Amino acid sequence: MKYKAFQFLENGYIEAIDQRKLPFQKEPFLLKTSDDAFYAIKEMVVRGAGVIGNIGAIGVYLAALESRGDKHHVEWQSELLRHARPTAVNLTWAIDRMLTKLKNNKNGNSIEPLKKEAIQICEEDKENTIAIGKHGFLLIEDIWKRNGKKKVNILTHCNAGYLGIVDSGTALAPIYEAKKNGIDIHVWVDETRPRNQGSNLTSWELSQEGIEHTVIVDNTGGLLLQKKLVDIVFVGADRVTAKGDVANKIGTYLKALAAHDNNVPFYVAFPVSTFDFLLSDGLSEVEIELRGEEEIKYVHGLDSKGNYKKVLVTLADTKVANYGFDVTPNRLITGLITEKGICGANEDAIRKKYLN
Ligand code: MRU
Repeated sequence: MKYKAFQFLENGYIEAIDQRKLPFQKEPFLLKTSDDAFYAIKEMVVRGAGVIGNIGAIGVYLAALESRGDKHHVEWQSELLRHARPTAVNLTWAIDRMLTKLKNNKNGNSIEPLKKEAIQICEEDKENTIAIGKHGFLLIEDIWKRNGKKKVNILTHCNAGYLGIVDSGTALAPIYEAKKNGIDIHVWVDETRPRNQGSNLTSWELSQEGIEHTVIVDNTGGLLLQKKLVDIVFVGADRVTAKGDVANKIGTYLKALAAHDNNVPFYVAFPVSTFDFLLSDGLSEVEIELRGEEEIKYVHGLDSKGNYKKVLVTLADTKVANYGFDVTPNRLITGLITEKGICGANEDAIRKKYLN
């Protein structure tokens, strides 16, 4: 991959790509303190379930770095980080791993062990995305072989690429693998209002990697599915229940409904750490993030002179509701792709594969 969502610097700090500025500017955002990590997650400097888990873990390490040996400071900051965003379980999963490390560290100074653990979490994600790519690729290859080696059209929602989880993403990982293997692919990229992760981030990522794609507004997917212009749908996930219900970016459910109605396979790709085995019914049990009204009321972009502008698109006092995620019930999902392979989105298959 051409870029990484973030990297460790020689001096022990972390440099992330400021995703709020893409695709117009690629600017670094420096993380030196645990408050920087909290801010980066909360304000979506970085986003995507995997990366916010990574930055959460890094935030705990940064808390140790600034703590002068005060364990309570690390614990306190960890709880703040845990609550920076509610829906992606990867954040709380990563914080718990870091706190376990902190608790089990009997050698006094916890900086190095916590740094090592944060790096380990990132390394594991990297390996997982590579494995997800290989499993998901087989689905694309199968379609390609069955349709006489013609171009395979893939629909994706939001950004589940390397900006969302290191190193090659989840939903985009099979696409990158297909490209590597010389399969002719085209990606329909949902714009993903209100924050435009599709048109701003996924489109940027695919451009960097030379993958043919077309951005569509969020309401277009239904028509494309009806017209058989989509062969397969890949999306990522923020939390997956023991029954296989999937919380992901708002709008995912509508794509799953349309895919189901048109017999188009709908796959969800994520690392095993995105499972929340404590939950069963996604709709009633997953906390859906509610975000500020600014995201809906304003759009951002460049004017004709290339100057960055923010424009109000409703009346200033119009009431809006900004639900960040929705839940796709398992019955609409063809399969779940993790680093361990592909399985059905149902309780039995999940239990057999992951809980035995
Ligand atoms: O609000 P975001 O941009 O953090 O939401 C991201 C998504 O919904 C992604 O699809 C999901 O996190 C998977 S990325 C590995």
